[in-house]
Amino acid sequence: MGGRPVAMPEQAVILVGGLGTRLRPLTYRTPKALLPVVNRPLISYELEWLRRAGVRQVLLAVGYQADILRGALGQGSAWGLDLAYVEEEEPLDTAGALKNCAARLHGRFWALNGDLIFDFDPAPMVRQHCQKGAVLSLTLRRVEDISPFGLILRDECGQVTGFLEKVSEDPTGQRTVNAGVYLMEPEALESVPPGRPWSNERNLFPGLVASGATVLGFLPETMPYWLDVGRLDTYLQANRDLLSGALPWVRAETAAGASLEPGARIIPPCSLAEGVIVRAGAQVGPFVSLGAGVEVGERARLRETVVLAGAKIGRQAQLSEVVIAPEEAVPPDYQQQGGVVFSG
Ligand code: GTP
Repeated sequence: MGGRPVAMPEQAVILVGGLGTRLRPLTYRTPKALLPVVNRPLISYELEWLRRAGVRQVLLAVGYQADILRGALGQGSAWGLDLAYVEEEEPLDTAGALKNCAARLHGRFWALNGDLIFDFDPAPMVRQHCQKGAVLSLTLRRVEDISPFGLILRDECGQVTGFLEKVSEDPTGQRTVNAGVYLMEPEALESVPPGRPWSNERNLFPGLVASGATVLGFLPETMPYWLDVGRLDTYLQANRDLLSGALPWVRAETAAGASLEPGARIIPPCSLAEGVIVRAGAQVGPFVSLGAGVEVGERARLRETVVLAGAKIGRQAQLSEVVIAPEEAVPPDYQQQGGVVFSG
């Protein structure tokens, strides 16, 4: 297939219809995409990357908790984007969800797994995709330990030649795996059956490669940050990393409307949202995010912890590496290391 004119995509699809089972119980009430990381919804990091990449319209492929997502994210003006919602009656899996959006796609588009925080320069990938006339380009990342991942194999021109699931040895030595960020032409979806579950990794991608389509693997020269925020440990890690400055445009800040009583101590980096109250003698940090309206009682101690909006931490409670669900009341003197506090 010949080259195409180089043009940055103006549309994107973000897949946000999953159940988020690995982040239960947090995701029973809050969709994964809306869980805050440093006091911004997880999905806002992808929206920001897409806006910087020149995208104007983002289709959110929704199903489970669609109304909560729609209510929270609205039309997208807060992110300088036009957001539209494409709903599935039954979960269609990742490729089925993209197919469900096909009628609204007018040209080249980004497709993203909805639970990632990442940063890399998209322009070289778009250039290579267009110049080589690809129907699909898969962003790759290089990992040390390949055993938990599926490997993506490429030839010297970047054409994907195969997929190897969860092996301990890489015969090519490339150690490149799927980063969950795809660049597609609408015709990449032609083979996907409408209205039934179909998977990107298991069905669509191997099918395209087998059919002889131009499918490229693109390994960015630098990938300053990449994390799959699908589990509790990676959710806490995202919070730690971003508070530490992993993305230069994310700052650990105390909102003007947060209040600290005399003797309250904040050990940076921390993020305190509007309406937070930290009572006398409490010690917060390092690596703590307190959501809007959170109250930390006298002499409580919190480190490496995320407290979601409206929760109240009793006096002298001690919490480390914990996530506190929204509106929870943590009793005085309560102690917990690791896990979630959620009373349903
Ligand atoms: P777990 O249940 O914990 O595995 O999380 P998940 O439901 O998010 O699944 P997974 O992490 O494998 O999904 C990757 C991305 O695809 C996530 O952003 C999901 O929201 C999304 N996704 C998975 N299945 C579907 C689906 O059937 N429809 C849509 N629209 N998105 C999906």
